[in-house]
Amino acid sequence: MTNPRISPALDEQARAILRGNDRGGYTVPTDGLYPYQWNWDSAFAAWGFATFDLDRAWTELDTLFSAQWDDGMVPHIIFHKPDPGYFPGPDVWGTGKSPETSGISQPPVAATMARLILDMDTQAGRERIAALYPKMLAWHRWWRDYRCGSGVVAITHPWESGRDNCPDWDIGMSNVDGSNVGEYTRRDTGHVDPSMRPGKADYDRYIAMVQFGRECGWDQAEIVKNGPFLMADPGITFILLRAHDDLAAMGRALGHDVSEIEGWAADLRAAVPSIWNPETRGYDARDLKTGRFSGRIGSAAFLAYLAGVESPELDARMTELWDAVRYGFPSADPASAEFDPRRYWRGPSWPVVNALMAIGLKDRGHHAAAERLRRETAELIAEHGFFEYFDPIDGTPCGGDAFTWTAAIWLTWAGAAVDTKGGA
Ligand code: DGY
Repeated sequence: MTNPRISPALDEQARAILRGNDRGGYTVPTDGLYPYQWNWDSAFAAWGFATFDLDRAWTELDTLFSAQWDDGMVPHIIFHKPDPGYFPGPDVWGTGKSPETSGISQPPVAATMARLILDMDTQAGRERIAALYPKMLAWHRWWRDYRCGSGVVAITHPWESGRDNCPDWDIGMSNVDGSNVGEYTRRDTGHVDPSMRPGKADYDRYIAMVQFGRECGWDQAEIVKNGPFLMADPGITFILLRAHDDLAAMGRALGHDVSEIEGWAADLRAAVPSIWNPETRGYDARDLKTGRFSGRIGSAAFLAYLAGVESPELDARMTELWDAVRYGFPSADPASAEFDPRRYWRGPSWPVVNALMAIGLKDRGHHAAAERLRRETAELIAEHGFFEYFDPIDGTPCGGDAFTWTAAIWLTWAGAAVDTKGGA
């Protein structure tokens, strides 16, 4: 049974955003601010397209995986066509790939999105997923080989987490020297209000990390061993755990032996307790160079539900953070000194994270919480439009407008009056 839609007019607007951001086989997150193909944005775009054009949905994933590196990595940006409106562009990354790409990855939501899309029409999707499966498997193996040395998933650049400037990374960022990066001109602050973007000190350090990667020829083992930044990320840990399960389920349906994936998932699950911080009473990022916890708690901790990880303590902590705001889940703890309700990942509510959290909550039987998250997210979009993120206290729309993943989660999740089915 299909859930009743809140607003056919908003559905039409959301479809128009996806079509408008379509650059032919791939979708940009939003015009101007992000003019290329971004990894996890693209996976959400595919999910959104699947509500009205299944073929286009699969094509989005095909294009994403067409830029996969030989070692299995799927890069976080694919620079299909030059665009001077973005910094740092392909010349700064210098990965030498064709098409040109960045040199880091991004949250591996693709298998989870592919499974949601496949469930919409298994017949139509069978051949498409059969072709994508070995590529997804190689990417998951890459995470295992290059990023899971400590047990949980490590990131080598805050951009890899997708939650660029969240307080989780402050402790690791403080060890990065950004003083020698030279002159550069940011482009993001020309597209949106600079007070909603990461600050200059953060940017200097982001660029220093890119320069390190470039200087070592994007040798991933070297970046992990000697690079300026290495932190355990609860967000990707939970996303990958869920994605392993989704990939294994699709592999089984295709008749593959999935014991390798099951082994990765079991190892990752066994390592999850190592990021539980009793002091913050939550899953916490950890600086792997010093072993110290970040001491910050944010929305990533509650992606635990997505991976089937939960506890009464986590439920209580979720309520504490959530009840401190009005609209959706805050990306950083409203009770902390760092909380900044409009600055990118330091406080705002992100519709796309709300959607992932809600899938997890619903799967774990927390129906009321999942429905509350959907309702609050829908209110933000219906009131203000398809923005990138929102102030969780007063709902002010922030960042880019006509945003692909906000439109996608409206069509797949937030725009249906009652959330009774797995996010779709
Ligand atoms: C940006 O440019 O802000 C991106 O988030 C980097 O991936």
